[in-house]
Amino acid sequence: MATAEIKMIGVVGGGQMGSGIAQVAAMHGINVWLLDTDPQALAKATASISASINLLVSKARLSQEQGTDVLGRLRCTSNMEELHSADLIIEAIVESEDIKKTLFVQLDKIAKRSAILASNTSSISITRLASSTSRPHQVIGMHFMNPPPVMKLIEIVRGADTSDETFKATKALSERLGKTVITSQDYSGFIVNRVLMPMINEAFFALYTGVATKEDIDTGMKLGTNHPMGPLELADFIGLDVCLSIMKVLHVGLGDNKYAPCPLLVQYVDAGRLGRKRGIGVYDYTKESRSKKP
Ligand code: NAI
Repeated sequence: MATAEIKMIGVVGGGQMGSGIAQVAAMHGINVWLLDTDPQALAKATASISASINLLVSKARLSQEQGTDVLGRLRCTSNMEELHSADLIIEAIVESEDIKKTLFVQLDKIAKRSAILASNTSSISITRLASSTSRPHQVIGMHFMNPPPVMKLIEIVRGADTSDETFKATKALSERLGKTVITSQDYSGFIVNRVLMPMINEAFFALYTGVATKEDIDTGMKLGTNHPMGPLELADFIGLDVCLSIMKVLHVGLGDNKYAPCPLLVQYVDAGRLGRKRGIGVYDYTKESRSKKP
């Protein structure tokens, strides 16, 4: 399938990533169905996309007419049948292999025969997700970075059976969305999280073992290595539950104890301290006036 033929995409999961992916696609002239099983998530996604578009209009980065057109290309639903018209469906639901597989079985049934099924997974095997469908050659990883409207990268992950045609169409679409593409083979964590998550996990170990305060760990990495965010601040931004899920995938998938999740990360997730989305993670966003910007 050529990218010019991708006129409609479906995005499943309207959380931080799905809502951003939907916004990027609509801003690049593509019609989008955004699906979430939780109506509150859809309401939140619609509000955040509208706020983001209105901000761009107020800064004259989009005309009023362009802003209206972008919002007009976006529709929300909880009915999966609506995705039948999509040429490509991107899944951005919770980072759990079992839940994603169940979704891929459902998508395989309702998606049109030519449709590509993509996953925004941070770490889960594309080959295994693909094997739950009848179209493994049309399944691919399309890993956006957070937040999708801002970050320039898409990491494309080829499963064992992903066809060249699927890869080319997904790469062309990513470039049409204004992104730079890197390509990874299908091994746990791919490229970005394979390198990033052990650093975040190590920052948790440094905090856990009393090497330094959270502020000094973050300041050290920001000013010492020129990272825009410290690793603990970044973990809060990503979501500690997402970080823990990825560490578990690395640990099991790469079979090395160096990837064992730090007990402090596990404890924070157990306590519901999931990061910014919950108002508390490593940092307490209800008390501190920390910047909301990445
Ligand atoms: P999130 O928790 O913000 O959003 C997940 C959404 O999926 C929720 O709104 C939930 O209601 C919905 N959902 C769950 N099960 C569903 C189902 N069966 N059908 C439809 N909707 C369903 O999660 P987030 O952070 O957006 O992550 C989504 C995916 O993107 C995960 O695979 C994650 O690993 C990946 N990712 C996350 C990044 C991050 O920085 N948070 C960066 C890149 C990828």
